[in-house]
Formats: sequence, C-alpha cells, structure tokens
Amino acid sequence: MGFKAAVITVSDRGYRGEREDTSGPALCAYLIEHGYEVTYTAIVPDEMKQIREALLLCADEMKTDLIITCGGTGFSKRDVTPEATKAVLEKETPGIPECMRAKSLEITPRACLSRSAAGIRGDSLIINLPGSRTAAIENISAVIEAVEHGLFILHADEADCGRQNAGKKER
Ligand code: MTE
Repeated sequence: MGFKAAVITVSDRGYRGEREDTSGPALCAYLIEHGYEVTYTAIVPDEMKQIREALLLCADEMKTDLIITCGGTGFSKRDVTPEATKAVLEKETPGIPECMRAKSLEITPRACLSRSAAGIRGDSLIINLPGSRTAAIENISAVIEAVEHGLFILHADEADCGRQNAGKKER
C-alpha cells in the first residue's frame, strides 16, 4: 500500500510540555501496524493559525496521503481543531466523522460531543480524532478499512479504481 501519514497532536498542555502526549505515539504505532509510513509528527497548541499551518505543511508541501489530528474537537472554549480543518478543506467527507460517532456511540454516549471533521485537500485526506488515546484509537479503528479504500480512489484514475474494486465482494 505505502501511503504516507502524519499525526498532529493538538493540545495546549502537550505543546507546553506539561502533559506527555500518549495519543500521538499510539496513533503512529496503529498506523504503522496498518501499513502506513508515518512521515511527520507534531504537537501544536489549540490555535487556529498553528493547526492550519501544520495541516498546510503536511498537505501542500509534504504531500501526505493521510493527515490525522488528535484533540481539540470537543466543547472547551479552546477547541478549534474542526474549524481550523474546515478552513483548509476543499471537500468535506462527512461520512467519516458520522461513522466514527456512530461506532463510538456503541461505546459511550459522550461520543456525540465530538465535533470532528474530515475532508480532502489536494491529494490529502484529513481526519480529526478526539484527544484521549483510547478515544482516538476507537475512532480511527471505526474507519481504517474504508479510509484505505478512499485513499486508493483519491490517488487512482478511474481504470485503477475499477481494478481495485474487481474481485471484491459487493457490499
Ligand atoms: N469517542 C470514543 N470512541 N470514545 C470516547 O471516550 N470521548 C468523547 C468524544 N468521542 C470519546 C469519543 C468526548 S467525552 C469528547 S469531549 C469528544 O470526543 C471530544 O474529545 P476531544 O475534546 O479530546 O477532541
């Protein structure tokens, strides 16, 4: 497969070194386990400008296939990750957060508090995940199989996409 991935942790306390970031490393390990090459990681504060800059670096300059953010999707006044993400998206992919919330609601009713967004910029797919390690892994697990298929479609011309679908059972 060989898709490149970036993991951007969004946390004021993590950025200031007041809290160890365990979610970012857990997500990196999860992505590597699923065949991705993690080419960039960062911790940024809950600031529109810095989140936006990290997303643009990964998408436009580094041409990263899958850009994961972790944290800042909730109700705290400082939570602006979905807003920073939507500001750089060319197309939203609402099915991804819908699926993550639906699956997560089977685990906790608080899943409905996630305001996470996802979408496409250029050749990159950006997905917001919640900040806790458990929640982040639960959310990415809900969509990982579909995300890989989506990345194939995003990167392929129509003929390639047809080949990728050939031999797969209709779902
Ligand atoms: N999703 C799953 N699967 N498991 C969880 O524990 N926590 C929820 C939600 N989604 C949770 C979850 C809670 S309590 C919040 S506030 C939101 O994610 C946003 O999290 P964030 O502010 O860390 O981004």
